[in-house]
Amino acid sequence: MPNLRRSLLYMPGTDWRKIEKAATELDADSVCLDLEDGVALNAKAEARETIARALQTLDFRRSEKLVRINPIDSDFASADLAATLPAHPDGIVLPKVRDAAQVEWLHEHLSAAEDRYGWPRGSTILILIIESARGIVELDAIVKASPRIAALVFGAEDFAGDIGAVRTRDAFEVLYARSKVVTYAKARGMQAIDIVYADFRDPEGFSAESRQGMMMGYTGKQLIHPNQIPLIHAVYMPTDAEIAHARRVVEAHHAHQASGTGAFALDGKMVDMPVVKQAELVLQRAGETIHAER
Ligand code: COA
Ligand code: MG
Repeated sequence: MPNLRRSLLYMPGTDWRKIEKAATELDADSVCLDLEDGVALNAKAEARETIARALQTLDFRRSEKLVRINPIDSDFASADLAATLPAHPDGIVLPKVRDAAQVEWLHEHLSAAEDRYGWPRGSTILILIIESARGIVELDAIVKASPRIAALVFGAEDFAGDIGAVRTRDAFEVLYARSKVVTYAKARGMQAIDIVYADFRDPEGFSAESRQGMMMGYTGKQLIHPNQIPLIHAVYMPTDAEIAHARRVVEAHHAHQASGTGAFALDGKMVDMPVVKQAELVLQRAGETIHAER
């Protein structure tokens, strides 16, 4: 299971070809087999069976195996869990999270399943999708509701629909919520996974939006098409020039610290502790990326 979740690729739980392709040919950090909005209402049962079979029979190599169930307050969530948990996914993605009680319920449900199947307590991770006004307002309680939460996902389409906003390309209408999700995730040491870019034939637009999310603090992005995997990995891989500059900053910092200087100048710009931390983040990102893809 990866430390990184730069790429979280969805596919409909009914689509064996796409699931098999994700397992055997693609290189997403996380593969998310969907039972929710990518699956028609009359195909939920079929999707559950397909997902269970895929988890039992396919080798997903280095990709994390996730199942997105239907919301806790839908008619489907219990049956989704009953059908797919025995096939032992690495984690559950919970959409349309409204309050802490929903997360607490799922946490207990997972603990019971772990006891039943003899899996280590707490080993099944949770990823929560925040995509409603209620979810945003309740975030403080939601992030404290379970120690299993590894990441928060922001869902811009559902959120915009919920508040009656119009989605635009530069996403200004979701800026507050998108910032709030990443802030609450980071406050608890969780990862933050950014919005979907639906136009999968527009690599420039995808990369621009991905860079924007990365600059906001997001550690990964939801993906809907294989084309998007190498693009997002490239966004999170610092360039050689960025790595070289970061090394210079860190080395100069150590030299100045040894001679008793805090802030100093490098190439006509001030370097102090926050700048050094940014440089260390660049080096950490480069190291993690190389490690994950080995
Ligand atoms: N996961 C895995 N493989 C995928 C994929 C996905 N999400 N999307 C496309 N592919 C595969 C196709 O099977 C095809 O491979 P193949 O020719 O070897 O079989 C290849 O990538 C090219 O696909 P393409 O023809 O460009 O796309 P499409 O028309 O088949 O599908 C979508 C387009 C949007 C329907 C599809 O990308 C998709 O289902 N995305 C995920 C939708 C989803 O899960 N939504 C809910 C969460 S937001
Ligand atoms: Mg959604």
